[in-house]
Amino acid sequence: MHYPVMRDEVLQYLDLRPDGCYLDCTAGMGGHTLAIASQLREGMVIANDRDAQSLEMARANCAGVSDRVRFHHGDFPSLAEAVRAAGVPQVDGVLADFGVSRYQLTSAERGFSLQADGPLDMRMNTAQNQTAADIVNFWDERELANLLYQEAEEYDSRRIAREIVRSRPIHTTLQLTKAVERAVPRRGRLSPATKTFLALRRATNEENLQLRAFFDVAPDLLKSGGRLVVISFMSLEDRVAKQRLRELEKQGRGRVLTRHVVKPSEAEVRQNPPSRSAVLRAMEMN
Ligand SMILES: C[S@@+](CC[C@H](N)C(=O)[O-])C[C@H]1O[C@@H](n2cnc3c(N)ncnc32)[C@H](O)[C@@H]1O
Repeated sequence: MHYPVMRDEVLQYLDLRPDGCYLDCTAGMGGHTLAIASQLREGMVIANDRDAQSLEMARANCAGVSDRVRFHHGDFPSLAEAVRAAGVPQVDGVLADFGVSRYQLTSAERGFSLQADGPLDMRMNTAQNQTAADIVNFWDERELANLLYQEAEEYDSRRIAREIVRSRPIHTTLQLTKAVERAVPRRGRLSPATKTFLALRRATNEENLQLRAFFDVAPDLLKSGGRLVVISFMSLEDRVAKQRLRELEKQGRGRVLTRHVVKPSEAEVRQNPPSRSAVLRAMEMN
């Protein structure tokens, strides 16, 4: 069973109209897309993702509402094209649930997983050239250390970068985990390689650049009265979201609806523990 994070809160903040048009920028396995499409009568959902394999899963999961969903394969800079391709000038709501999906995290062959051995890949869009292995094997020690510190606040960044360079070539996720564990001994339940994997995923997929593009493009795609709803799993991401929504409000573009960040209920966290780090923010456009 797939639980889209904060489903009820997403539907509430999108303030769905049965004939409305909604853009799910990060369709993943289609959990939110399905929840939105199930509430529509004449409207539609544009389900976008840069991961073609995820979109195929979303297509299968949304088979029962397929007449109300248009799929689009693309990243955040191409969101305007997704809306244009659906034949509408603007939409009533935009949703982004940033980060990686459970499917990506648990599929060994995609290379995101610390637990399951696989190629050191981590590309959300497998048509892209640069993989995590390219970064690990070809960036110099200083660049690697800076990356680990800046993208994942890894305080042992220098020690880890030194051991990575010493252990090259590194081709698999397990080789990388072991290299990091040689540099920093395991302390608690969490592997010391967790932040290294996070930093590499963010760099491989240029997530900072994509996040900036999202906030540049998404507000212009919304009609007056349209809703922008974003879910972040990392404080680094949420900081950007909070700041960009505030800037839009100051510019008179809309009104922030979430003075305080919205978190999943205790019941949801019990049912779906990974949801505990999710935070939601929303805005209504003028
Ligand atoms: C947390 S998952 C979304 C899960 C989805 N809401 C669901 O209910 O199944 C995030 C998804 O966003 C996609 N994604 C991340 N960054 C993206 C970007 N810049 N452009 C397009 N898709 C992106 C990932 O490929 C992943 O499938």
